Amino acid sequence: MSYPSVQALILAGGLGTRMKSAMPKVLHDVLGHPMLWYVVDALKDIDVQPIVVTPAANEAFRAAFGDRLTYAVQPEQHGSGHAVQCGMDYVSAEYVLVCNGDDPLPAAEDYRVFLDESLAEHADAAVLAAYLEDAGQLGRVVRTVDGAFAGIVEARDARPEQLGIQEINTGIYVFRSAELRRWLARMKSNNAQGEYYITECFSMAVQDGSHVHCPVARGTWEMSGVNDRAELALAAGLLQRRKLDHLYREGVTINMPGTVHVDWDVVVGRDSEIRQGSCLKGSTKVGNSSVIGPNTILIDAQVGDETTVLASLVEGSTIGSNCAVGPFSYIRPGTQTAERSKVGAFCELKASSLGVGSKVPHLSYIGDADIAENVNVGAGTITCNYDGFTHTKHHTVIEKDVFIGANNNLVAPVTIHEGAYTATGSTITHDVPPEALAIARAVQVDKEGWVRRKKHGQ
Ligand code: UD1
Ligand code: MG
Repeated sequence: MSYPSVQALILAGGLGTRMKSAMPKVLHDVLGHPMLWYVVDALKDIDVQPIVVTPAANEAFRAAFGDRLTYAVQPEQHGSGHAVQCGMDYVSAEYVLVCNGDDPLPAAEDYRVFLDESLAEHADAAVLAAYLEDAGQLGRVVRTVDGAFAGIVEARDARPEQLGIQEINTGIYVFRSAELRRWLARMKSNNAQGEYYITECFSMAVQDGSHVHCPVARGTWEMSGVNDRAELALAAGLLQRRKLDHLYREGVTINMPGTVHVDWDVVVGRDSEIRQGSCLKGSTKVGNSSVIGPNTILIDAQVGDETTVLASLVEGSTIGSNCAVGPFSYIRPGTQTAERSKVGAFCELKASSLGVGSKVPHLSYIGDADIAENVNVGAGTITCNYDGFTHTKHHTVIEKDVFIGANNNLVAPVTIHEGAYTATGSTITHDVPPEALAIARAVQVDKEGWVRRKKHGQ
């Protein structure tokens, strides 16, 4: 269902003072997205294009969301009602859905149900209420003895007995635009904060005898709005639980979920396992039947099927299927490992490719290298890709079926051609022909009796 008669305003113009941050509150990260993204995404899901009310300095918003959003500027912060006033310049639709940008938790379905009901009710003003165990500093819904909606009172302005009310204002509203404009023009700032509150419009609606609709949200509503770091952590925790629940339903095993972090956009295939202490971030995708962790960090990583990544960090790279990585390896951006390849313990790979069945099993640095299939790189091998002067990185090419002996230095640019071997301890400074053995190390000299002479003067 789409809503041609509805536009949305997301209030994100506040200073977020309680966050004590240089960053606008609604841009703080929650599972890989700014908090505001969740509100934008939910509205996108119900096909309502939002107008976002921001402070005048909104470069950070533009950097995060680009020009795909319409921004209405609130030049000075005089409260949520003033923010709506600033946003209304951009509204031409008959109805406006207003919501707080500091609440990443409501899902598209919550907005849809509330909007459908409010439109069906032909409400002039509607507010979504919810019951909370601890209503804290939130606005309370005040009702008459017979349960009729009477208004919203902010905690700071509430009488002691009103503070006991557990029915709160979620900060999600629907207004008939024409009525709203009239109420906004009458708003006053005579409250504890000296601000214009959007919630005052509901008292005016009641006074005017307008039709106010105030349904209570279905399901459990555990909090409303992120105003400080503790609430940021709480909201992230609740979304994390939703994300992990989704993964369980997709057939993913998560071992010790309390120790695992999975960003919102991460995809994991069935029969894969995320083990304790692991963190999957950004656009990471893991295939089927893979084992991630314990103690693995994947950032924007692609991992194939039946692969294990143990106690390692993989960033901006692709790990193929039936591969093994780790323990304790660091795969840096721009790396691709093909199927059945292995990166063992204490290896660093950067902007490199590893071919089918190739192995870098121990203690190596491989940077700016293309390694073809069926190559074995001996323990302790280093690609010397940086010359220390030109600030350019040089390339190493290792063709298929090559065997690099242990503890080699491959001084780039250099190519080891197909089927060649290099001897242990070699420093390879020029190309090795196909199927040759390159030995590039000092010849061993045995000085007979040297120790005896040294120690005993014989
Ligand atoms: C607000 C509601 C409260 C409700 C709660 C739900 C008001 C007066 N109170 O309280 O009843 O229970 O949300 O979470 O609205 N904003 C602006 N410009 C401003 C001030 C705020 O755009 O000048 C924006 C903020 O960025 C925020 C939203 O409005 O996204 C709400 O402001 P906030 O300060 O978080 O209000 P709460 O105290 O949480
Ligand atoms: Mg808030």
